[in-house]
Amino acid sequence: MKLDTIAVHAGGKPDPATGAIAPPIHLSTTFEHGPAGERPLGYMYIREGSPTEARLEEALAALDGGEAALVFSSGMAAGAAYLATLPAGSHVLLADDIYYGLREMAKDFLVGWGIESSSVDMADLEAVRGAVRKQTRLIWAESPSNPLMKVVDLAALAKIAKDAKARFAVDGTFATPILQRPLALGADAVMHAATKYLGGHSDVQGGALVFARRDETYEKARHTRHILGGVLSPFNSWLVLRGLRSLAVRVERHSANGLAIARALEAHPAVQAVHYPGLSSHAGHEIAKRQMSGFGGMLSFRVKGGREGAVGVCSKVRVFTVATSLGGTESLIEHRASSEGPTSKTPQNLLRCSIGLEHADDLIEDLRQALE
Ligand SMILES: Cc1ncc(COP(=O)(O)O)c(C=O)c1O
Repeated sequence: MKLDTIAVHAGGKPDPATGAIAPPIHLSTTFEHGPAGERPLGYMYIREGSPTEARLEEALAALDGGEAALVFSSGMAAGAAYLATLPAGSHVLLADDIYYGLREMAKDFLVGWGIESSSVDMADLEAVRGAVRKQTRLIWAESPSNPLMKVVDLAALAKIAKDAKARFAVDGTFATPILQRPLALGADAVMHAATKYLGGHSDVQGGALVFARRDETYEKARHTRHILGGVLSPFNSWLVLRGLRSLAVRVERHSANGLAIARALEAHPAVQAVHYPGLSSHAGHEIAKRQMSGFGGMLSFRVKGGREGAVGVCSKVRVFTVATSLGGTESLIEHRASSEGPTSKTPQNLLRCSIGLEHADDLIEDLRQALE
């Protein structure tokens, strides 16, 4: 089946008790079990797993083409659970441009877990080969990346990881499974901040890991969630599941708007550079064409007036809202270095946009007047 159809139906069997088409939200934290802890219907206690969460996991595994999925209370909780599957003494190779929270996690937490990390420009495959160490157990990429929109060759990186006997995981938040399916390109796992496009309405926080195989790594991440407790609540599971139903059509519109706005910005005299993988000027455009079915609604651009010019644009927009996060129906813009704080490596003249579902003409006009 096509992804549009899977998005509408996966995890959506009518409720066996009532025939309800909209899935029930099972709020129960505990489930009747047998005299010796038997789980006749598969559940025991909410932190171990719950029916609404299970529906969402079934849907996400189907969308990303994995054997199993786990959902978490946030994208960060999902990323942490994956990294926590590594034994002490491991080395993790991170892409140089990744979500700053994951970079902070590496800096502030991995060391305490006995895990070393280093970063490399994953657009440079020779550099990646050179950065792999004997102890490298995981290569972690993000494509397109936040906030520079770098695109890396996922199939080539999967091969490098395989040759090194390391795992390969991809943060696929910006692309969603509609535009890019890393597992089909050889990745072992894909991570999503469900807070973004999967939820789709800026009203739910969640995270997901989808696994190519229901293997030991899956079991370890499941154990981490069970014991450390980063579960997704039944209501939030339900909201993300509802978001998935319209994911394919939303992403189509996000992508069409993203391309229109990127082209308009590229032609604007006050703009120094536009980072959008759908533009032929983008360094990763050819790879993006190969491994993505569209280019999505995220872009960043640099203005000519430095930090002041960038902050000035934020103070003048009327249709865009100045806010962090992404993937909702409304267009957002932010001075990314300010959002990331003092440890940010992001250029000071860079603005990151999450292009929403408004009419592209209104968004272009808004940016044009703000750039004046
Ligand atoms: C690419 C990417 N990965 C992971 C995360 C973390 O997700 P969450 O905020 O749900 O923890 C974000 C959040 O912005 C993100 O943009």
